[in-house]
Amino acid sequence: MSFKVAVVGATGNVGREMLNILDERGFPVSEVVALASRRSQGTEVSFGDRTLKVKALDQYDFSDTDICVMSAGGNVSKEWSPKIGKQGCVVIDNSSAFRYDQDVPLIVPEVNPDAISLFTRKNIIANPNCSTAQLVVALKPLHDAATIKRVVVATYQSVSGAGKEGMDELFTQTRAVFVADQVDVKKFTKRIAFNVIPHIDVFLDDGFTKEEWKMVAETKKMLDPKIKLTATCVRVPVFIGHSEAVNIEFEKPITADEARDILREAPGCQVLDKRENGGYITPLESAGEDATFISRIREDSTVDNGLSMWVVSDNLRKGAALNAVQIAELLVERGLIQPKKKAA
Ligand SMILES: NC(=O)c1ccc[n+]([C@@H]2O[C@H](COP(=O)([O-])OP(=O)(O)OC[C@H]3O[C@@H](n4cnc5c(N)ncnc54)[C@H](OP(=O)(O)O)[C@@H]3O)[C@@H](O)[C@H]2O)c1
Repeated sequence: MSFKVAVVGATGNVGREMLNILDERGFPVSEVVALASRRSQGTEVSFGDRTLKVKALDQYDFSDTDICVMSAGGNVSKEWSPKIGKQGCVVIDNSSAFRYDQDVPLIVPEVNPDAISLFTRKNIIANPNCSTAQLVVALKPLHDAATIKRVVVATYQSVSGAGKEGMDELFTQTRAVFVADQVDVKKFTKRIAFNVIPHIDVFLDDGFTKEEWKMVAETKKMLDPKIKLTATCVRVPVFIGHSEAVNIEFEKPITADEARDILREAPGCQVLDKRENGGYITPLESAGEDATFISRIREDSTVDNGLSMWVVSDNLRKGAALNAVQIAELLVERGLIQPKKKAA
């Protein structure tokens, strides 16, 4: 059984990673189609050892396509995902356009795989925000063991989370600083080279940013609506890999050793936690990896049943493309999707 898969946003950071991961994991494809805007029509992208010519989304007919992985931003998704879903093609969307829709499941396969069955309502499945995806992978096994009451998280998010323009801006500004050239600010709100910016997405009325709100809403939707969470989201001059300093308050007692043992066995998690120089993960080492890495696990005696830890993952993989491909795999494993065209 194999599926016709369309990758929308195939020229972008997430789309390119999507093509890599579909190939690396041997997802059963009969055909892969690369789509983007008309600007990129005719350009080439790699899929394993093959080269695909990019087609324009607005000229493509989805009626014989089985799965569409969408990573072209919220506005494109709002316009196209419902139309594509109505053509009987299941959309796995990376944007925030449908994440909070009660008729659209928001899925991290290690956390809430059973919620996927809801997808038939709109033929759309949402992928969470990159910061939330890695966080819930680490929180889920601990929540099962000791019930999380409250989480305080500060993120250190790489520029690739802001698309290819974000990566270009860090590169260009860094070079400009070195050659004493003028540093232009376009994509971010302040200079990102040799700086950090405590502002991701738009400000809300309560003073939090939309990125911070997303972490609250998505953790509640996927893990447990009773969990209280507060976040500070910060952009840092790292190309790939989001890091998070996480403080957790549990209902039941849990030691750092117990948490370490639980996380070692947990799906998608990798513990790297030695109390010595370099005995922890940094975003540089997480780039290109699938795992959510957990380091610096320690008890926090300032609250009852408190733990602190450091969580790092490749935002383009677990935070986006890998999670989307895992969702597609889940559809296939559970027999929730059949190819429209039967193999000859
Ligand atoms: N980066 C992350 O860590 C991350 C994590 C989770 C979710 N996401 C989400 O994934 C999406 C893409 O992010 P990204 O980082 O890959 O951005 P990106 O590098 O800027 O790429 C954007 C992609 O969207 C395509 N696109 C733009 N307008 C289009 C249109 N009108 N019709 C068809 N295609 C269009 C672009 O094609 P052209 O080349 O033709 O312009 C490009 O392929 C966003 O919704 C983002 O929020 C990103």
